[in-house]
Amino acid sequence: MSLCVERGELVSIIGPSGCGKSTFLRCLNFLEIPDSGVLRIEDVEIDKQLSQSWSRAQERRAHALRAHVGMVFQSFNLFAHRTVLDNVMMAPRTVKGQTLGEIEPLARALLAKVGLDGMADRYPSTLSGGQQQRAAIARALAMKPAVMLYDEPTSALDPELAEEVLQVMRRLDEEGMTQIVVTHDMRFARAASDRVLYVEGGYIVESGDPDELFAAPEDPRTRRFLRTLL
Ligand SMILES: Nc1ncnc2c1ncn2[C@@H]1O[C@H](COP(=O)(O)OP(=O)(O)OP(=O)(O)O)[C@@H](O)[C@H]1O
Ligand SMILES: [Mg+2]
Repeated sequence: MSLCVERGELVSIIGPSGCGKSTFLRCLNFLEIPDSGVLRIEDVEIDKQLSQSWSRAQERRAHALRAHVGMVFQSFNLFAHRTVLDNVMMAPRTVKGQTLGEIEPLARALLAKVGLDGMADRYPSTLSGGQQQRAAIARALAMKPAVMLYDEPTSALDPELAEEVLQVMRRLDEEGMTQIVVTHDMRFARAASDRVLYVEGGYIVESGDPDELFAAPEDPRTRRFLRTLL
């Protein structure tokens, strides 16, 4: 899979179960070590050769690269024993060594941005799924990432709660955030994306303008996939 995402783009990745969407997303963050390939985000480049084992130097660069990437999962993955505010402040404090005084105002501003003002001192289990997911987005944003990755961010949510999360993602898009979203929500993919990729069997089968791809897919595999959804 070869892909160049411009700053400020919102790219949706769609495709059947098991086609490699999550694996691809996890490779962008080195949660999964690719067998080979080149990845460049901001000023960090990692070139992994097939014959090469994963070196210390590459691990250091992967660490630098991860600092540019925020990730949001289907199952929120908030720390259950920490308040919402602590969840948001944790990575900047432990990874970047920022003080409470530096990070707390930003964390509270981020919670307000995702519509969670007043929830800072609550524990994750007392929030709705949609609220938890928005807290997870605030937590990822606290590291000031260059790009946000989402792996089916709304699949665990009822439509109403999903909409609250999608609204946050749309607002981030308007503010110029770069976002890559694996999603089963075709309505969102069509309405909100700058570009949609259809993936099957580990390959990008087709990519393009969402209206064109959904209305008139060129590849028969894309057509078949979209037909099964309707
Ligand atoms: N850690 C792993 N080791 C070996 N194979 C794996 C691993 N993780 C996933 N796979 C396989 O790789 C393929 C792609 O999986 P992946 O999770 O990326 O699919 P997906 O497109 O995200 O599917 P879904 O829509 O169900 O989430 C699948 O065949 C899966 O079984
Ligand atoms: Mg997946």
